[in-house]
Amino acid sequence: MPKIPVRVVSWQEIVDWSYGLAERIIDSGYRVDVIIAIARGGLVPSRILADRLGVVDVISLKVEHWVQTASRNPEARIKYPYSVDLSGKNVLIVDDIADTGDSLILAKDYAKRNFNPKEIRTATLQVITQTTKYVPDYYYLEVKDWAWFMYPWNYWEDVINLVKKLKDSGVNIKNLEELKRAYVDSYGSHPPIDLNIIIDEMKRRGEF
Ligand code: ADE
Repeated sequence: MPKIPVRVVSWQEIVDWSYGLAERIIDSGYRVDVIIAIARGGLVPSRILADRLGVVDVISLKVEHWVQTASRNPEARIKYPYSVDLSGKNVLIVDDIADTGDSLILAKDYAKRNFNPKEIRTATLQVITQTTKYVPDYYYLEVKDWAWFMYPWNYWEDVINLVKKLKDSGVNIKNLEELKRAYVDSYGSHPPIDLNIIIDEMKRRGEF
């Protein structure tokens, strides 16, 4: 059975962390003109930061993680490339977490080459110092030991994927009691959505 440490993050924590992150940006004196939200993880933090900082212009870059054949490390790519003129603007690129750092490195390089801003800085709610190749200019929480953070905008997707992993490892997911036991044993936390509701949703999606 897989052993993956999973931490469930609440909506209230997201608001608190985003406000805490905003304070750090304010204290630094950086005046943000445009926020670039890395989709999808940076979307909700970006919107909260925009409100707190008084930023009207929020745009987005969709970063996808391509798993190459015979490669364990997915390659980050901009899925829908475009150009826009941000000359004279102070830009803040926002994501939920710096884990490998690949999304931020890619988005920063892409924005520099295609958007022509005055300055680019980066911000995340969390940074995993053990694994990241890039530390953002601003972050709120430093994580020492790697874990999967289940953010509230991702509960359904994450729980479904975690159930699929259990299924692939041989757990009989038709036996709800066995599934619940295996879930807690493998991931070290309780699912934020009842597993029988998750199974119903997997059936609706034709994934069961
Ligand atoms: N996205 C990339 N790494 C992550 C992690 N460790 N937790 C949640 N989302 C992530």
